Amino acid sequence: MDNNWVNIMPIKGEGLMVSDSPVFIRLNYDTLTTTAGGYPWKDSLNGSGGMMPTFIKPGHFPTTGSAHPNRRAKTDNVYVEVMTELSYNPFGKSGSQQAVYSIDTNTMNRTLIAHVPTKYGQYLHSFGVSENYVVLPLNLKMHKPAHMGEDMTMISAFADGWDGIHVVDLEGKVQIFQTDPFFHVHITNTFENETGIVMDLGTWDTIPFSPHALATASFLNKTSRDEKNYGNFVERMHLHTAGPLKGSVTRTRHSKPGRAIDFFKINDKMNGLPYCVFYAVEWMHDDKNYANMAVLKHNMCTNTKTYWSKNHSYPGEPFFIPTGDAEDGDKEKEEEGLLVFTSLDGVRGASDFVILDAKTFKEVSVVQLPVHIPFTAHGQFIPKAGIEAVKAAMEVEDPILAATIDTTFQI
Ligand SMILES: [Fe+2]
Repeated sequence: MDNNWVNIMPIKGEGLMVSDSPVFIRLNYDTLTTTAGGYPWKDSLNGSGGMMPTFIKPGHFPTTGSAHPNRRAKTDNVYVEVMTELSYNPFGKSGSQQAVYSIDTNTMNRTLIAHVPTKYGQYLHSFGVSENYVVLPLNLKMHKPAHMGEDMTMISAFADGWDGIHVVDLEGKVQIFQTDPFFHVHITNTFENETGIVMDLGTWDTIPFSPHALATASFLNKTSRDEKNYGNFVERMHLHTAGPLKGSVTRTRHSKPGRAIDFFKINDKMNGLPYCVFYAVEWMHDDKNYANMAVLKHNMCTNTKTYWSKNHSYPGEPFFIPTGDAEDGDKEKEEEGLLVFTSLDGVRGASDFVILDAKTFKEVSVVQLPVHIPFTAHGQFIPKAGIEAVKAAMEVEDPILAATIDTTFQI
């Protein structure tokens, strides 16, 4: 049970499939085929299969990476990514390091921002990037390597690895913020204000990647899955870099105890910038049943929540598709777009493709798909492939569908 190829980073004309690994796999959008081997980075060391950039510290080897490279605000082509480096020499002074680097998707050059010394060999599924900072909540470590004959799944190796919140600026300078330990999986958004950095994220009291609901036996056991309370919250953390609270972290919870919320999505135009709205999947929506699920729209500015849910319908991660021509950070147009996701219709035994107007949260269209699509997974919209699909759909002889698509998509 690993977290394989769960996300796609767009590069020129194709996608790079990413996992919690330093390896990136090329995905051809037209054929949906992958190229064998890792992406052939220009700066990779000979024989490393693309895994080892020239900036890796001598005597180090790469272990994990993040499945969520994060686009730097107000750029189209600069992504920030991390890689955990360990020393070959267990007694060496440089020990564990978190390499923070940028990827220019125009030139496909990788540039080191900082080598951040860490207490453990950290595991970072996701991290925050604002205009001027990279925010690394260090809370999970790889406890032990898997050995033949043991449980070799990645999640069996996770352990508490709290090492504070490391903040890296553009010059590579590191500040460490301490707060009560927490675990996280996904970041909602990270941005700056007058006194510091604001990071919204899902926090957990217990290791979120432990087998709990991800293990089939537990997942299928209604009593077991309904009893569990993972101490999961949506939290806003304010890392004070200035003002009277400088150096401290202020935390506020923005979700109801007992509910589980994850798979955050925002309008990507707001990524790294002050924003209001995130979308997410919510379990325990009725406060009783784990499998009672909803898609949530949460406006953090007005503290209002709007839901889409249906009986026996189990949604996957929503994706926001902007329909306007907004520039990065345009709050006026933050909600101008569509929210799309698949939802498994338990009665029909197949998935629906649901399109909502993000502003009103009303259904624009629900397309019944002929197959079942697994629902505890990330969802992603590829603009090029989407446009091709829309063009193809408009050629079908269905005037109602064609009219819906025509008014929905600007192609
Ligand atoms: Fe993820």
